[in-house]
Amino acid sequence: MKESDRSGFGSRFGAILAMVGSAVGLGNIWRFPYLVGENGGGAFILIYIVFSILISLPVFCAEVIIGRRGRASAVGAFRNLAPGSKWHLAGYLSILAVFLILSFYSVVGGWSIKYLVDSAMLKFSAGADADFSELFSSFSTATWSPLIYMLVFILINSAVVILGVKNGIERFSKWMMPLLFLLILILVVRSACLPGAGVGYNYLFHADFTKINSDTLMAALGQSFFSMSLGMGAMIIYGSYVSRKDSIASHAVVTLSLDTLFAILAACAIMPAVFSFGLQPNQGPGLVFVTLPYLFSNMPLGTIVAIFFFISLLLAAISSAISLLEVMTSFLIEEFHLSRRQAVTICIAIQVVFGTLCSFSLQAGSPLKLAGLSLFDLFDKVSSDYVMTIGALLTVIFVGWKIKRSDYLDEMTSGGAVHLPRWAAEVIYWLIKVVAPLAILAILIL
Ligand code: TRP
Repeated sequence: MKESDRSGFGSRFGAILAMVGSAVGLGNIWRFPYLVGENGGGAFILIYIVFSILISLPVFCAEVIIGRRGRASAVGAFRNLAPGSKWHLAGYLSILAVFLILSFYSVVGGWSIKYLVDSAMLKFSAGADADFSELFSSFSTATWSPLIYMLVFILINSAVVILGVKNGIERFSKWMMPLLFLLILILVVRSACLPGAGVGYNYLFHADFTKINSDTLMAALGQSFFSMSLGMGAMIIYGSYVSRKDSIASHAVVTLSLDTLFAILAACAIMPAVFSFGLQPNQGPGLVFVTLPYLFSNMPLGTIVAIFFFISLLLAAISSAISLLEVMTSFLIEEFHLSRRQAVTICIAIQVVFGTLCSFSLQAGSPLKLAGLSLFDLFDKVSSDYVMTIGALLTVIFVGWKIKRSDYLDEMTSGGAVHLPRWAAEVIYWLIKVVAPLAILAILIL
């Protein structure tokens, strides 16, 4: 594909917001707070930040380098950069992972639409004396309604991707990310005004290192990759749309900072409220869908807060899901010469099939279980614990050892057009070449 054929991002600002949009998602609002709750608060946050800087940042740069230099989606980019080698198989691995993630992502995306509808119908208003845990389990294990909401989510997502990179993905992200930021800030302030909010902050920011073990490390690394959309080609394809004039290092730093900020803000919106109402922080995945409704129905202005919250969750989910869908779509367009519309249509069919299986696997007594895990949990676990980690490992090894050092420098400085201090280029280079691969390997082995 010639460079002129690639309809890339229209502006630097748009590129950054699309990347931030991909990074900020269910991972920040749904997953991060419950992982913090399960893994002992502040210490987990600290480890998460260290991993993000030392490991995720270099992986991010490596993915963007592969995409921008290879000028194609994951499979094609590896093939362009290492013709005749087996490296493009790493690209196929990412396509597989995207399947897995997108399936359960669409299910959870559907849940957030359902909860938005419910909050608008005053289901979480003061005095709504419902058993929210029962409500959640009966909804999520029902047959039809989760599927219908999932389908709505898939269709919204597909509509954005059909519109293309500049008119769909970039435009959506440019408007929705600032709005999302505003909504989260409102929630943080609302939460801070609750009596006893301080206990929540103390839990979040007090580091208890006795809770740290190898599982915590794996969880922190997996979460950091998941949250930064790494290890499955999303930043490769977005990188391929980034202008040659942009600085990769500054995209990486901005995306990482905003992604971490969003995660911490989400935790700051949720945890003080959890403690203020005497609930348990270690609720697992149900934190957002069970604990929060209970909380909304007990707080003044709860319905409005609930509506804001679920709009935020939905926006975040869509801006991330579009990047996952773009990985598959661009792959189909490039490899099979389909039109964007045809490619997205095929993706819709695939998502409906796998999403339905995921959703059904949550029903009691469902045969869709493997090793005691439902397909839903299995997809989540396999993709974030293994495929993503291995994908990230291959990415840094490729850029650190396979690509010429001069090519690395050429990308990082955009051929000299971008001023990147020499020491920064060196530090990132050694992080990519040595520190990140060793750290990922060590954690995998542990
Ligand atoms: N980063 C998103 C989140 O935090 C999820 C996501 C989007 C993702 N695209 C990805 C994860 C690509 C891994 C790879 O919710």
